[in-house]
Amino acid sequence: MNLAALLKGKTVFITGASSGIGAHLARLCAGCGANVAQAARRIGELAALEADLTALGAAGVLSLRLDVADEESVRAAIAAARERFGALDVIVNNAGVASDAAAMDMSAAEFDLILGVNLRGAFLVAREAARGWRAEKRGGAIINIASVLGFRQASGVAAYAMSKAGIVQMTKTLALEWARHNIRVNALAPGYFDTAMNAEFFASEASKVLIKRIPMRRIGDPGDLDGPFLLLATEASRFMTGAVIPVDGGHLVSSL
Ligand SMILES: NC(=O)c1ccc[n+]([C@@H]2O[C@H](COP(=O)([O-])OP(=O)(O)OC[C@H]3O[C@@H](n4cnc5c(N)ncnc54)[C@H](OP(=O)(O)O)[C@@H]3O)[C@@H](O)[C@H]2O)c1
Repeated sequence: MNLAALLKGKTVFITGASSGIGAHLARLCAGCGANVAQAARRIGELAALEADLTALGAAGVLSLRLDVADEESVRAAIAAARERFGALDVIVNNAGVASDAAAMDMSAAEFDLILGVNLRGAFLVAREAARGWRAEKRGGAIINIASVLGFRQASGVAAYAMSKAGIVQMTKTLALEWARHNIRVNALAPGYFDTAMNAEFFASEASKVLIKRIPMRRIGDPGDLDGPFLLLATEASRFMTGAVIPVDGGHLVSSL
């Protein structure tokens, strides 16, 4: 089965596409010949990526300013993507923020920001897409980007880990509620990948200790996500919903 060919001509809406994993997934979808609606707050970064996506083979590219923490911004961005491409096939809930504040020192505002973007924001995007699919009487696929921290813990990432545990449960509960609407909701749970979010950490000695605990003894390369992503984005996973797939070099099965 050629997974890339299954995505050709489909429309994929990706949040947090201005850098890191989101930008990589936008390039992957472009290379498959999909329409790519790439959304984030930094519209300038998205504009700079447009030519690249077109050159890779995207059927169409649309850059959208989006703040997932803002309900009206979510509504407007999804409506604009629908208007441009007619219908959406895949939603990728990738936008995320992290913090290294110790739990005791974390302000309520910082906690709200992390949960507001990572969990509430992903819910708002999923809900808006699902309402549209229900009205159009068609289905779709949602891929949430969770994390190994949705299952395990580490110091200094309490709010982030809580938000990702929420994403795991959101994936399962929405999968249950929306299966009758032919909406599939699955998630990828990446291990550690070197992106802007944790560049400082991977420049430190502490990161070497962490890498030793990953059974495959390396962090992820964005391309490691390609196969699992294409599986969840296409008809290849037509009987899968509520699944959370770790892509982590075995980090979740590391020995205690
Ligand atoms: N890197 C890892 O090791 C790792 C591991 C597991 C899971 N993840 C998850 O992977 C996803 C992508 O992270 P990354 O590592 O690629 O980090 P990144 O390079 O910092 O990307 C984060 C993206 O989220 C966007 N974003 C942040 N707040 C937003 C908001 N309010 N509205 C819309 N977009 C927003 C940012 O764009 P703007 O600033 O332009 O809005 C950016 O494009 C996140 O959900 C993260 O939790 C990462």
